[in-house]
Amino acid sequence: MLGNFSYHTPTKLYFGAGSVDGLEEELSRYGKNVVLIYGGGSIKKNGIYDSVIERLEKSGKAVAEISGVMPNPTKDKLYEGLETARAHQADLLLAVGGGSVCDYAKALSVSVHCGEDPWEKYYVRFEEPDVPVVPVGCVLTMVGTGSEMNAGAVMTDTEHRQKLCHVFASSDVMPKFTVLDPTYTLTLPRYQMVSGIYDIFNHICEQYFSGTDDNTSDYISEGLMRSVIHSSRIAVADPQDYEARSNLMWTATWALNTLISRGKSGDWSVHMLGHAVGGYTGATHGMALAAVSLAYYRHILPYGLEKFKRFAVNVWDVDPAGKTEEQTALAGLSAMEHWMREIGVVMHLTDLGVTGEMLEGIADVAVPTPGGYKTLSRDEIITVLRESL
Ligand code: NZQ
Ligand code: ZN
Repeated sequence: MLGNFSYHTPTKLYFGAGSVDGLEEELSRYGKNVVLIYGGGSIKKNGIYDSVIERLEKSGKAVAEISGVMPNPTKDKLYEGLETARAHQADLLLAVGGGSVCDYAKALSVSVHCGEDPWEKYYVRFEEPDVPVVPVGCVLTMVGTGSEMNAGAVMTDTEHRQKLCHVFASSDVMPKFTVLDPTYTLTLPRYQMVSGIYDIFNHICEQYFSGTDDNTSDYISEGLMRSVIHSSRIAVADPQDYEARSNLMWTATWALNTLISRGKSGDWSVHMLGHAVGGYTGATHGMALAAVSLAYYRHILPYGLEKFKRFAVNVWDVDPAGKTEEQTALAGLSAMEHWMREIGVVMHLTDLGVTGEMLEGIADVAVPTPGGYKTLSRDEIITVLRESL
């Protein structure tokens, strides 16, 4: 049965080559003071910075900048950006970059008018904002996280080696608009492209591998997964293929904008493990997920056998004839493993610098999730991590 839910998304999307033109209409809705937020400089090399600045100037905006937002943005960077956003009396935070930059802008948006320590409020006590939230707009340059159309903001506390995800309940935190131009993603290094592809796929898995009810969300998920698999093969063979890259961009947005989680439970254990690895080592998000996924799914398969069988047949075209349920389910995971190797994701934690001695420390910073078919105990977390080495 599909459970009860509400669904509201305030994010207006501008999709396609040249969609940065949508900025002009959007910018006219906000006050004069814009804080432009970006990462380590890729947007200056590929011309996206110039395109955005041109629109900001045309709209008569006063622009302050926060640059150098790192992958897996940190608490210290949040404090640093607060000073700029407050001094500039920001009317709009414009994030130009990947998930890290978009997440950072959202964390800043709830912090600018916060009278207390925002880290303590939002990432220690996990409270909701009770002050005005500064509007956020995004120009996406890296595909994968879905941050462009959700209320999640993942931040890292480097001191405690912990990566924390706050998915805000308030839709005020969602971007007001996002520009999705697939051509902006064509300069991504292959490693980042592939990492993003696996992130998309895993977001869908996290929402799919839970529950036994018959619901529309799982059918949508299967279609999205098939689309990711198909387009990823084309993009890996030819990263400049616009059709594949545009399909990946659109799939990423729908994979994590709450649509496919409506009316059902979820899992998020792979993200729990991947974030623990990321917090501990600074590893690239999608690659950390990839390294732990197969060990985790093989571990929980007996508890969700029916769904893993359905995954094998409906997503990977495994023929169940002559196979037991378990054989069919395992064949699905083998097909998934084959695809992961084919596109070139990281298959082992050791490739991310993790050693056996680190596993207890990684388990210490893992924030347990209820899980889909099985809530992992600490011993099971260690087991899955060890099998992922
Ligand atoms: O910093 P620059 O120089 O821009 O380089 C970036 C960065 O090094 C580069 N890049 C981005 N666009 C580019 C480009 N290089 C060339 N051409 C372009 N067009 O790519 C690198 C990675 O960027 P980043 O934003 O870190 O990647 P991603 O989009 O994967 O974001 C990862 C962050 O998002 C969080 C992750 O945990 C991680 O902190 N997530 C956010 C989620 C959400 N809001 O819902 C959900 C996800 O599961 C995830 O946890
Ligand atoms: Zn993710």
